[in-house]
Amino acid sequence: SRSELDEIYDFAVQLGQDAGQMLLDAAKLRMGDGAASKEQKEHIEKENAVDLVTETDEDVEAYIKSQITSRYPSHKFIGEESYSKGSSRDYLIDDEPTWCIDPLDGTVNYIHLFPMFCVSIGFIHKSKAIIGVINAPFLNQSFSACSGRGAWLNGTQKLPLIRNPIPPMPENAPKGCVFSCEWGKDRRDVPDGNMHRKIESFVNMAAEIGGRHGRGGMVHGVRSLGSATLDLAYVAMGAFDIWWEGGCWEWDVAAGIAILQEAGGLVTTANPPTNHTNAPIEDVRLGSRLYLAIRPAGPSSTETGRKSQ
Ligand code: IPD
Repeated sequence: SRSELDEIYDFAVQLGQDAGQMLLDAAKLRMGDGAASKEQKEHIEKENAVDLVTETDEDVEAYIKSQITSRYPSHKFIGEESYSKGSSRDYLIDDEPTWCIDPLDGTVNYIHLFPMFCVSIGFIHKSKAIIGVINAPFLNQSFSACSGRGAWLNGTQKLPLIRNPIPPMPENAPKGCVFSCEWGKDRRDVPDGNMHRKIESFVNMAAEIGGRHGRGGMVHGVRSLGSATLDLAYVAMGAFDIWWEGGCWEWDVAAGIAILQEAGGLVTTANPPTNHTNAPIEDVRLGSRLYLAIRPAGPSSTETGRKSQ
């Protein structure tokens, strides 16, 4: 029911704040301890030398999991660290209420003390991400959305913040856009795993679209934040016009998808369109590895006047 959903939303926002504080405290400890600065990173390699986990990822996930299971014992829980230590990825996204958590998205950023890291809390029902909370404590930014309640920055600023200057993809060419894409973690040199090739085609697309206008270079910039969920939040904000990544898991995107969709943006499981006039736009399917997000063109109309911090 509506009131149950609102209660879950409030709980998720509070959980995001508490977990964000844990991330901030842990990051400050790392900064304060001069001896344990960048050289001494307490991380462990997972599937390869760029797939990393820290104690902080594990502590924050354990905290979030305990809070959720004591408050909502019947809900399912999918957390990055519960599934990435060699265990089979045997979870299912189905009709059941399911929490989908990345305790620390942007782990590499956290290790290097680049401030783009956050906790990402998604709530999925009937296979759709309907609540999202992203708390980035170093940035003082908390994004939140619940289906029918609008998408918000710090509970007060409605998303998107930047409205309408550019027609949305794919109807029109994105003159003056900022694109974002991520390198992911796959470094295998196989056709499907070669990130360099994927990024190259994405960047080429940016260049090509500029070129269509005869002057070239009309895309303002290409960025790579190192946090897929923050990419989605920044698309919802309107700071990024397009984001694409070819290697995400559900916990990287569940919260961001809820926020972007509630802000009126579009997310699809597609490759970037090389011809922007006929890009396939299908409904996003959680469980895909590949996502393309397009920012909202203007203020969303779904909000019913209730904010959440
Ligand atoms: C990663 C980040 C990164 C993205 C990877 C993710 P993590 O998550 O979001 O930007 O490229 O696909 O796995 O490991 O920092 O939680």
